[in-house]
Amino acid sequence: MTNRITVNADRVKGTINRNIYGHFSEHLGRCIYEGLWVGEDSPIPNTNGIRNDVIAALKKMKIPVLRWPGGCFADEYHWKDGIGPRELRKRMINTHWGGVVENNHFGTHEFMMLCELLECEPYINGNVGSGTVQEMSEWVEYMTFEGVSPMAELREANGRTEPWKVKYFGVGNENWGCGGNMRPEYYADLYRQFQTYVRNYGDNRIHKIACGPNGDDYHWMETLMKQAHRFMDSTTLHYYTITGDSWQEKGAATGFPEEQWSRTLKQALYMEELLVKHSAIMDQYDPEKRIGLLVDEWGTWYDVEPGTNPGFLYQQNTIRDALVAAITLNMFNQHCDRVQMANLAQLVNVLQAVILTEGEKMLLTPTYHVFDMYKVHQDAQLLDLHLISQDVKNDKQVIPQISSSASKDDEGRIHISLCNLDHQSNAVVEIELRGLVEGKVKVAGTILSADKVDGHNTFEHPDQVAPAAFTAFTLEGRNLRVDLVPMSVTVLELTSE
Ligand code: AHR
Repeated sequence: MTNRITVNADRVKGTINRNIYGHFSEHLGRCIYEGLWVGEDSPIPNTNGIRNDVIAALKKMKIPVLRWPGGCFADEYHWKDGIGPRELRKRMINTHWGGVVENNHFGTHEFMMLCELLECEPYINGNVGSGTVQEMSEWVEYMTFEGVSPMAELREANGRTEPWKVKYFGVGNENWGCGGNMRPEYYADLYRQFQTYVRNYGDNRIHKIACGPNGDDYHWMETLMKQAHRFMDSTTLHYYTITGDSWQEKGAATGFPEEQWSRTLKQALYMEELLVKHSAIMDQYDPEKRIGLLVDEWGTWYDVEPGTNPGFLYQQNTIRDALVAAITLNMFNQHCDRVQMANLAQLVNVLQAVILTEGEKMLLTPTYHVFDMYKVHQDAQLLDLHLISQDVKNDKQVIPQISSSASKDDEGRIHISLCNLDHQSNAVVEIELRGLVEGKVKVAGTILSADKVDGHNTFEHPDQVAPAAFTAFTLEGRNLRVDLVPMSVTVLELTSE
């Protein structure tokens, strides 16, 4: 079976916003506490309380933007609980996630410091569900006002004179569900009200983000756009890949039956339909595509690892997750005209994490390696690519064998990402390279694969699934022929001599 791709290297279709490679960190399980924050007195090497190993890994992956503090937690979070001397901060119960004590040691100052250490943009999610307009307004003032004001003075009293720059601000999270169980008509009005008081101070310019729909709730998108499109810079979409039959039985992260391979990828590929249909609704109200669609929660969601707190959402991460990440990022790249940001759920130790930790130990998941390999697409120009893929039939599921996207960076290097979704067979892809000078092209590549459908890394064996050099290609003139092993993610780099 041969698959065919044509890459038109001289036809640019748009710019891939680096924020498509963004992440999400919530006060949930061991994401913030232990995964990122260990405190200054921890024996785990840290910088001002944030673990050094995690910082180094995330910087290498070029994390562009980080969303915080939730998630469902955002609409229960009262930011003033998380400022001032840590020992005096309010201790409370994280009612949504595991019923554990939240000591508020990680608050606004710590999050902004984390973003500074990571050199990424902060994306703050405000509280609409249980908060007030005043509380949200004062948070923005606290973070961004320079000069004499009650909140700027409070910030200064807490050790920070200079205001921070905050670009991305979300007005509520999942307000159709955990964020207040609202109807779209009601939320759209609340959004209009709350966002009025999310002010631009000095030269800080806030990109206002309205809470968008869950999955295929097109009514929510339609209503929100109709009532509030003039007041937003972006809206959101949440979609999780679950494998089992329901949210009660989502399926296991490892040791799953082989037929769940195709089923999971099929569920992940549903993102394409969601992007097309939501974009079509947005186009009616915003044909110039000023408003971004931010997929600020996505990824796999399985049953928790046996023996762990069900409220902590801790799951292993396998080559299957790597494929979900890679095909989803290809879809986001292809829709970069509308998708301006995406945030994988979640950064460390929760759901489809890029990093897992256990005490002082840390491992990089297969999903991490995909983000690391794909970072070459950040801010690059999306190239026109035509794919004719063979089908893979399995467990009554039909999925394409190949997923792909291509981009050109500012140094003229072309990167083609190629996934073989087939877990049993090699995939041959014949790629015609148009718009390049024959005989002048050099090819190199990196591949990520595993020898079983749930191949993954453990703290004992952290490098079982790791990228390797890819050499299974031949180039004759403009025709590049590649041979991809089953269940693999490959990124090719084409440079001109
Ligand atoms: O990512 C876990 C949860 O999933 C988030 O808190 C919520 O927004 C979503 O339902």
